[in-house]
Amino acid sequence: MLIKEKRVVLRDGSEITLRSAVAEDAEELCRHRKQTSSETYFMARYPEECEEDAERTRNKLNVVAEDEKEFMVTAFCGGKVVGDAGIGKIRNHIKYLHRGYMGISICEEFCGRGLGRIMVEAVLEQAKSNGFEQVELGVFSDNYRAIHLYESCGFSRTGVIPRAFKLKDGTYRDEIQMVVVFGQ
Ligand SMILES: CC(C)(COP(=O)(O)OP(=O)(O)OC[C@H]1O[C@@H](n2cnc3c(N)ncnc32)[C@H](O)[C@@H]1OP(=O)(O)O)[C@@H](O)C(=O)NCCC(=O)NCCS
Repeated sequence: MLIKEKRVVLRDGSEITLRSAVAEDAEELCRHRKQTSSETYFMARYPEECEEDAERTRNKLNVVAEDEKEFMVTAFCGGKVVGDAGIGKIRNHIKYLHRGYMGISICEEFCGRGLGRIMVEAVLEQAKSNGFEQVELGVFSDNYRAIHLYESCGFSRTGVIPRAFKLKDGTYRDEIQMVVVFGQ
């Protein structure tokens, strides 16, 4: 589904538009995803693995726009994507339809300015109103900023997958699994 556009001002005065990315934003969104994957290893992919072309992204955006529950919240500053978040279904089967899975990435330049909190809160509010009963995520165990943000937005730790990620330097990171159950 497409969310309602919202404008916010960050504490440093930056003006941000939050809206669903649509097909016309596909190239800019691909650029953002590749950029954030090169700025931090906390993303699931290395930049060279962000090979999804604009055409494939366009198709995915169209599918999400038509879905009754899934959505994206994309942050634009002056026409540039600076943040990308969204909720997808875990599986499209009846027993899973109450569970949403959240992803978020903000480009380095805009991190630490309060945008993450604004986006997580917007995503959770929308998820609730779309009928998801809980939202889940996985995060690198050393991504302290993200973990702090998620816990302060109501997420609890539910488990750890040891050595979930193996970096190119041969070191491993655990994944912390988190969930927020609405109404609890
Ligand atoms: C994780 C991410 C979404 C957070 O967004 P953000 O805009 O940087 O976060 P905010 O500025 O809204 O809030 C950050 C909070 O973490 C705190 N924080 C910052 N560094 C921290 C650290 N090292 N340890 C603990 N808390 C920290 C801040 O004080 C702030 O908390 P507060 O609001 O209680 O003061 C963003 O940094 C990001 O996308 N990073 C790169 C990709 C990534 O890690 N994605 C998440 C994958 S699960």
